[in-house]
Parts: sequence; structure tokens; C-alpha cells
Amino acid sequence: MSKRLLYTDGVSAEDFVDRSIDPAHPARSLLRLMRPHRAKWVASIPFFVVKDSPVWLMPPIIASIIDSVVTGAEVHRILLLGSVGLVLLLLNYPFNMAFIRLTSAATRSLASTVRAGLAQRLTRLSLGAHNRLSSAVIQTKVVRDVESIELLLAQVVPTVLATLSTMTGALVVMALRVPLFLPLFAVTIPLAVALIAWIRKRSGSRNEAFRHEVAGLSATVGEMADLMVVTRGHGLDHVAAASVARRAESVRDAGRALDHLNARFGAITWIAYQALALLCLVGAATASVLHLIPATAGEVVLLSTYFTILTGGLTALLAAAPILARGLDGIRSIGEITRELDTEPVGAAEVNEVRGDIALDRVRVDYPGADAPALDDLSLQIAAGECVAFVGASGSGKSTIQNVILGFVRPTEGRVLIDGRDAAELDMRSVRRRVSIVPQETALLTGSIRANVRYGNDEVGDDEIWDALRQANAAEFVAALPRGLDTVVGDDGISLSGGQRQRLSIARALVRDPRILVLDEATSALDPISESLVGSALESARRGRTTLIVAHRLRTVRVADRVVVVDHGRVIESGTYADLLRAGGAFSRLVAAAEQPAAA
Ligand SMILES: Nc1ncnc2c1ncn2[C@@H]1O[C@H](COP(=O)(O)OP(=O)(O)OP(=O)(O)O)[C@@H](O)[C@H]1O
Ligand SMILES: [Mg+2]
Repeated sequence: MSKRLLYTDGVSAEDFVDRSIDPAHPARSLLRLMRPHRAKWVASIPFFVVKDSPVWLMPPIIASIIDSVVTGAEVHRILLLGSVGLVLLLLNYPFNMAFIRLTSAATRSLASTVRAGLAQRLTRLSLGAHNRLSSAVIQTKVVRDVESIELLLAQVVPTVLATLSTMTGALVVMALRVPLFLPLFAVTIPLAVALIAWIRKRSGSRNEAFRHEVAGLSATVGEMADLMVVTRGHGLDHVAAASVARRAESVRDAGRALDHLNARFGAITWIAYQALALLCLVGAATASVLHLIPATAGEVVLLSTYFTILTGGLTALLAAAPILARGLDGIRSIGEITRELDTEPVGAAEVNEVRGDIALDRVRVDYPGADAPALDDLSLQIAAGECVAFVGASGSGKSTIQNVILGFVRPTEGRVLIDGRDAAELDMRSVRRRVSIVPQETALLTGSIRANVRYGNDEVGDDEIWDALRQANAAEFVAALPRGLDTVVGDDGISLSGGQRQRLSIARALVRDPRILVLDEATSALDPISESLVGSALESARRGRTTLIVAHRLRTVRVADRVVVVDHGRVIESGTYADLLRAGGAFSRLVAAAEQPAAA
């Protein structure tokens, strides 16, 4: 694992994110996420207070200048006041830079740690959990939701700091110069805060609705892209386009509702604030003219300016409320991954060497929501180096046997033993470093044949690649390609036949020299020549390793040392090809059916 993925205190990013995020308490989760950089956050506060101080220090300076004009004071006093103001303004630049340096470092590394942690968690989720989370939803969480947390920190934190420091500064100055004005603030400011609290509550739920609509849209678009071939092939273009359009409309409606809500509350608060400000000025001026409160002209202006500044600060808080809500929503949304408990258990024991002995001991597998178990009290011993072919009807449990051995599916009862050790106590990921899989559907990435064969093992050289291609019966056709190993295959490359793709997939499995080879044979028919090429590829592939094949072709079944017939999650027959044929049971009937012409 790359060291950069590790968190500073030696805690992995995944553990850190896991411990910090509690979807039920997003604000507390955020504080826990900020903890490792708390020194930076704390240090940034004094820098912010200094850089922001002109906001509340300039008005008393201006008030003093006005009073100097009214009372006809000396010019040097005015110049002195002006110089103090200028110095304050100039301080803003270095202090702002220092503030941004500190908070940006803290925010950006928080985001990268959360992303690294999420990625680690995603690779640990069980296959079942991955089936539930679409790739588009995962993308949204890792990219957009983390971004909304960054935005929260970059925009809401300064706003809150600004409001707090301005308020404190303004109130202190006010208390020192005209304490009798303070009761005015005591009435108007709580009014404003109550308004904020109310609006935050309202916009929170609309935001959540909007986020759900957007996530739904991206899932639909992802599905459309995945199913494009089927969609076009079935002439369903209009259906797919219409379903995206419907989603887009829901996003539009939720977005408009949100916009209207924000606009309505924005306008109401603005008018209310301006009216209060006017009232404040009129009140202060009246009180001063009637000599109810001894205040100079400058002080009346000061009061009015402060009121505008304070209401401005509160309005900014208000504007920040949706960003805050979105950021906290982001944390909740990320929590759906960190709280996804359906992870692969990581047993304590890492495995360095795998011999290849496999045993299933009275294994039962229940998929969630299924009526009947997928595997039922199934026991099986497979010796290192043995080649076992699983045959049986569709849905009988062949793939489930493979998946339970690989640790992708956990047994509800019974044990899986790898080299005599209980798989529940092993870190199956370390076991799988010595396993190769040839899936039913051959997946090629867009890239050269070389990149496809050595996928994930960059240290593999061309000699080893050619060796693997020879064993997989693919060397001949690759050598015949004009650009050989550099030929680009996959979505953007040349088209290969089903048999050629499968043989490349076998070469990819063999280049790792696995101790255990797991192969789910493609059900799609190959022509007899391809079938015999793939068949003899398997004959050499199985040599020297434990090989588990879900077999559909007679040729493959013959390659195996043992044939296991699976039915409704149980083993109903087991033996060599010849033995089973002779016994005349379920297997011989399967073979007879396969040899019948399909039309019969
Ligand atoms: N992820 C899953 N969730 C729920 N049920 C599942 C899941 N995967 C398989 N099943 C069910 O478990 C049973 C065994 O499925 P399995 O995929 O092991 O069959 P199979 O023998 O490999 O079939 P096929 O030859 O069609 O690939 C089936 O009834 C199937 O519907
Ligand atoms: Mg299957």
C-alpha cells in the first residue's frame, strides 16, 4: 500500500474516515475530520481576526474624523486617524495570505484523506454491496460530496469567523463609546438570529431532496451508457432518452423549488434588515437630537454603520447556510459508504504462500432475500494441483461455490478451509494475490495486448508475456498481428473474436503463475476450432495448480480430474468423467442432452 494513503498518525485513511464519520451527527463528524489539523485551524484564527479587523475598526476611525470636522479639530489629528486606518488596511494582505495558507492546507488534505479512505473502503466492500451501489452513485460520493465538504470549510468557516469577530469588536467599541445604544442591538440582533434558525431548517430538507434527484439523474445516465448496445439494438432509444429526460425534469423541479425558496427567504430577510437599519438610524438620530442619549454626529453614523455591518454579517451567514447544509449532507452521504457494513471481513492472518488445498465443510450460503439457500450443507475436498469441473443447471450454485472459495461470499454456516486454515481467519485479499480468475464475460481494457496481459503486474517482461500467451494458445494469433504485443484491443482497438478474447483472458490469468486458477466458462458457443484451441489452452493452464472450472463444454469436462455435479446447492454426483458416464446418473443424462442436436 502506498505510504501516501496512510494518515499522519499512522492510522490508515480508511480507519480514520470510518471512526470520524457518523451519519447521524454530521457536524460532530466534521469536527472529528478536522482534528488532525486542529493546530492549523486554531493558528489561523488570530490571523483572520487581524485581517478582518478593519471592518469594525474603520467605523470608529471614520466617526472620529466626522467629529473632528464637526468640532473643527486640528488637521494633524485627521491625518493621524487616516494613517492608522491605512496601516490597518495594509495589514489585510499578509494576514489574509497566512490565513489562507493554513486553512487551505488543512481543507485540501482533509479532502484527499477522505477520498483515499473511501477508495480503500470501496475495495473492501463485498460483491453484494457493490451490486447495490451503482458506479455513478459511488462517483458522486467520492467526487462531489467530498467537494461539498471542502466548500463548507472554505466558505462557511471564514463567514462564521467574520461574523463572530465583527460582532465582538462592534459590541466592545459600542459599549466603550455609547453604551446606551446597546439595548437597540439587544432587540434587533436576536430577531435576526431567530430568522436565520428558521430558514436553515426550511432549506435543509429542500437541499436533501435536490441532492437525491441529482444522484438519481447520474445513476440513470450511467445506466443509459452501460446499456447503450442493448438499448440501440432493441430500438429503445426513445425509452432511454425519455427516462433521462424524466429524471432531468425532476432535477429541474427540485432545483426550482429550492431556488424559489431561497429567493423568497432572501428577499424577505433583505427587506427586513434594511428596514431595521433605517429604523436604527432614525431612532439614534432622534434620540441624539432630543438629547435623550448624549451622542455626537460621528457616533450616530457609527451606530448606523455597525448595524449595517452586523446585518451584513448575518446575511452572509444566511447565504452560507445552504452551503453548510450541503456540506453536512455530503458527510451523511459519505456515511452511507463508511457505514456499509457488508465488507469483506479482514481476518488477522496474512498469507504469503498458498499451496492450493481447498475444503468446504458443510457450507451453507443464503443470499439476502432468497427463499432457498444457494448452497446447502455442501462438503468438498479439493487437493492441491487437482482440476475440478463443476457442472449443473443454471442457478444450481456453481458460481456461488467459486465465490465462497474466493471469499467474495461468506458462508452462513460451515467453514471454508484454504490449506487447512479457516478462511474466516485469513485475510482473503492476501490469498487472492496467489489466485487468478477468468470471468465468464471477458473484460478487456482499452490498451495494448501487453497491457491487457500484464494487467496490474507492471514488472512482467515480454518473455513472460509470450510464455503466458503460448500456454493460453494465443501466441500464434498475437504474433500474426502487424503490431504484435503493441496492438490496441478493447473498446477503441481492433475487434477480437470471442475465442481470442477468452485466450487473452487466460493468458492474463497465467502470467501471474497463480496457485489457484478459477475459471467461469463462457456459455456463449464457440466454433469447434476455437473451442478446441481454448480447450487445449486449459489443458496446459491447469498444470501445476489447483483449478476450479465451471464447465459448459464437454471438452473442458474431460480436462478435469474430477467432475462435480451440482443441483439446488448440493453435490449430487462426483467422480471422473469416465466413472460418471459409466454410472449412468445425472451427469450421463447431461452429456446425452448436450450431444443431442438442439432441435430434437
Ligand atoms: N447476488 C445474489 N443475490 C441473490 N441471489 C443470488 C445471487 N447470486 C446468485 N443468487 C442465487 O443463488 C443461486 C445460485 O446461483 P449461482 O450464480 O451460483 O448459479 P450458477 O450455477 O452459477 O448458474 P449459471 O450457470 O446460470 O451461472 C441462484 O438461485 C441465484 O438466483
Ligand atoms: Mg454462474
